[in-house]
Amino acid sequence: MEAPLPIVDLGTLTAQLRALRAEALPRIAAAPDLAALDELDLHYLGRKGGALSGLMRGIGGLPVQDRPRVGVVVNDVRQDVESALAAARARTGAAALAARLAAEAVDVTAPARSIPRGTLHPIVETIERITQVFGQFGFVTYEGPEVETDVTNFQMLNIPPDHPSRDLWDTMYVDLDGALLRTHTSPGQIRVMQAERPPIRALLPGRCFRYEATDAAHASEFFQVEGLMVDEGTNLADLKGQLVEFAHAMFGEGTATRFRPGYYPFTEPSVAFDIGCLVCGGPGCPACGRTGWMTILGAGMVHPVVLQYGGIDPERFQGFAFGMGVERIAMLRHGITDIRAFLENDLRFLEQFR
Ligand code: PHE
Repeated sequence: MEAPLPIVDLGTLTAQLRALRAEALPRIAAAPDLAALDELDLHYLGRKGGALSGLMRGIGGLPVQDRPRVGVVVNDVRQDVESALAAARARTGAAALAARLAAEAVDVTAPARSIPRGTLHPIVETIERITQVFGQFGFVTYEGPEVETDVTNFQMLNIPPDHPSRDLWDTMYVDLDGALLRTHTSPGQIRVMQAERPPIRALLPGRCFRYEATDAAHASEFFQVEGLMVDEGTNLADLKGQLVEFAHAMFGEGTATRFRPGYYPFTEPSVAFDIGCLVCGGPGCPACGRTGWMTILGAGMVHPVVLQYGGIDPERFQGFAFGMGVERIAMLRHGITDIRAFLENDLRFLEQFR
């Protein structure tokens, strides 16, 4: 059984349709957002239960000749409501987009937040620079142990037990027979010679230890870089040439240099290598003791006895070696006046080396 058709007349139905439109259009115009418009769409134009569909059910109850006329009104109303919905959707959609763009806007001119970057410790940086300069002469970097033995730290370097030259190195001993904290990187010479065959060009950076009262110029813990070259015909001129090149690369082309006689048990002859004082550039300066010169390393031709301990025939091969204090060089490079700054790990000091 079909539901009974409502009894209506043309005039009433037309009036109801126009009333629906009159009610719908201002509500659509006032809808705040797309969700509200979807709701109004369903309420007025929904196929099932929509207001317009409800009124259209009245058409069937009209006399046949009236039906087309009310159909024209229905179409009119539907079109008006539909275009009002379309216009409102375009409006609220554009507004929503504009609001979203405003909310999500990124100020590309704002200063960037910087990513905190670490810095190399000035000692590490200086070692890297030293190994880089000598790397260009073909030197390869090795590392020796910090805990050495009396044999490698002294005896094989031509420093017998009870020899007076031991006074040059105030030594810290380890509670283990024959073991000590290396007082210099020179035992690395022995280790490299025992492990490699000539030609040898080795650099040995590392931490050293001495029993020393600490002040602005002395530390009981410090770094050295050892250099060793062993080959046929290696001579003092080779050593001097490379050290002068090194000084120029490290401290500038115009840096003055000089060789002075020195003494080390493991080199013969031994020299001290000086550069012109960087503070005064001449005599009369407290930084260099008024001499105009600063010693940056000790060096010499490797003693034949040391070559022998390294397993190398001194009749056939010669070598030179040098050892420099890294702190000294870093202090000269950066104008640092207190050696203790390197081990204090004060960020205000360390962050200056970017
Ligand atoms: N080992 C020496 C020192 O500690 C430096 C040095 C190294 C001298 C190599 C000559 C040759 O003072």
